[in-house]
Amino acid sequence: TVLIVDFGSQVTQLIARRVREAGVYSEIVPFQSAGEAFHRINPKAVILSGSPHSTVDIGSPRAPQEVFDANIPVLGICYGEQTMCAQLGGKVEAGHHREFGRAFLDIQEECALFDGVWAKGTRHQVWMSHGDKVMEIPDGFKVVGTSTGAPFAAIANEAKKYYAVQFHPEVVHTPDGAKLLENFVHRIAGIEDDWSMSAYREKAVDLIRKQVGDKKVICALSGGVDSSVAALLIHEAVGDQLTCILVDHGLMRKNEAADVVQMFREHYNLPLILVNAQDRFIGALEGESDPEKKRKTIGRLFIEVFEEEAKKLAKDGVTADFLAQGTLYPDVIESVSFTGGPSVTIKSHHNVGGLPEHMNMKLVEPLRELFKDEVRVLGKELGLPDHFIGRHPFPGPGLAIRCPGGITREKLEILREADAVYLDEIRKAGLYDVIWQAFAVLLPVQTVGVMGDGRTYEFVCALRAVTSVDGMTADFYHYDMSFLGQAATRIINEVKGINRVVYDVTSKPPGTIEWE
Ligand code: XMP
Repeated sequence: TVLIVDFGSQVTQLIARRVREAGVYSEIVPFQSAGEAFHRINPKAVILSGSPHSTVDIGSPRAPQEVFDANIPVLGICYGEQTMCAQLGGKVEAGHHREFGRAFLDIQEECALFDGVWAKGTRHQVWMSHGDKVMEIPDGFKVVGTSTGAPFAAIANEAKKYYAVQFHPEVVHTPDGAKLLENFVHRIAGIEDDWSMSAYREKAVDLIRKQVGDKKVICALSGGVDSSVAALLIHEAVGDQLTCILVDHGLMRKNEAADVVQMFREHYNLPLILVNAQDRFIGALEGESDPEKKRKTIGRLFIEVFEEEAKKLAKDGVTADFLAQGTLYPDVIESVSFTGGPSVTIKSHHNVGGLPEHMNMKLVEPLRELFKDEVRVLGKELGLPDHFIGRHPFPGPGLAIRCPGGITREKLEILREADAVYLDEIRKAGLYDVIWQAFAVLLPVQTVGVMGDGRTYEFVCALRAVTSVDGMTADFYHYDMSFLGQAATRIINEVKGINRVVYDVTSKPPGTIEWE
């Protein structure tokens, strides 16, 4: 096992993911409990994550001393490098300017971390995101890589098997980063392969059985890949103790509720209940324009519906105590607040943060550690058909967060139509599987147009399409202009209420994929 000490970086799970890709099992623990976890896990190697903290601040987090006393390989990443230096006798200073984004690393020395990947004297793209700077490295370390902004961008103490890098090898923008992490766990720490998706499946099934016992479970099904995979996994674990519930909150895409029910009934023999709660959700959301309030209202109503359904399902003393969701890691990390965990809240995904504080049901979230593309692999492992697995992600709060400004039934209707036309064009152009996620957004702005001989004053529709691997970072999709022209013409001609279409060319970061 590799122990990953989490100091609160937004991308800590990506480290675990890369380690999994290398076939090795890892556990992430928050720095506060890392000392205790170290004794429990008895790891063969440790990785120290990045952090929004500054090592220069009084009381900023540190790695437990055990890590350096155990005579095992340690890799520090970004803040992890800084705290390693601070703890082993080097010096870190608060930076005057942040280095953020693409940088180039010059390899100064051969080193086990770079074996077979980067040779001395070559230069490679890496991803930086830091404010503070290492000024002096501890005794026994040598500089193995430098960048313009970071003279100690990569350092090593080969005798002790300590390595530290200022850049982030776990993100895709460091193209060779995964190989460096593979070198660390295989060549340096000598750990054998002990992780695979089928092993994960077995472990997850086992954990679900232990958690649920003989109680009933309700699975919040949306028809998306995540909740479908969660449902199958839970069904494998507890069979007919599971009931799936699809809530039609009136925020779904055109014909979606009916399509999902049909698709599911065709392929699976799971009990599935469709609850029509359109008026309840839209009634509560009408006029609401604050993105977090929208998310929280939707989360609260979802739970109300599930608790009501759970009551109905209770029979012969067997209660439905558990609510299963297809929550993924990015949903967790972007919702966890600074007080709950070490990272910063970006938005309350309804799967987790949007939920009310007090709810009677306990959560079952077997995909919490995984990323979207890993869930797709797990879906394949579970025999889910390809067209299921390839569906674009769709957020729990649905069209509500694609309708910035106050929500009205009329706007939702306009958006639903525009979205259907846009996706139809994407499918016709053969682009559905190339694009990671695409959707329309209805802006709360009206602009002037001319149609026929008349003046129009209608809404603006924004189109979004991104490529991504895991939803954590994304690039806008580079369409051919003629495609956009064609989609815009169709939307304006066919959807009453829209007279202008724009295309969103923002990547994530600094944007997010959804608009709210
Ligand atoms: P953002 O907008 O945070 O989205 O870049 C990343 C991915 O997550 C989806 N998303 C959600 N999924 N509940 C979900 O189940 C939510 O509340 C939620 N918010 C965003 C989003 O569609 C994208 O795929």
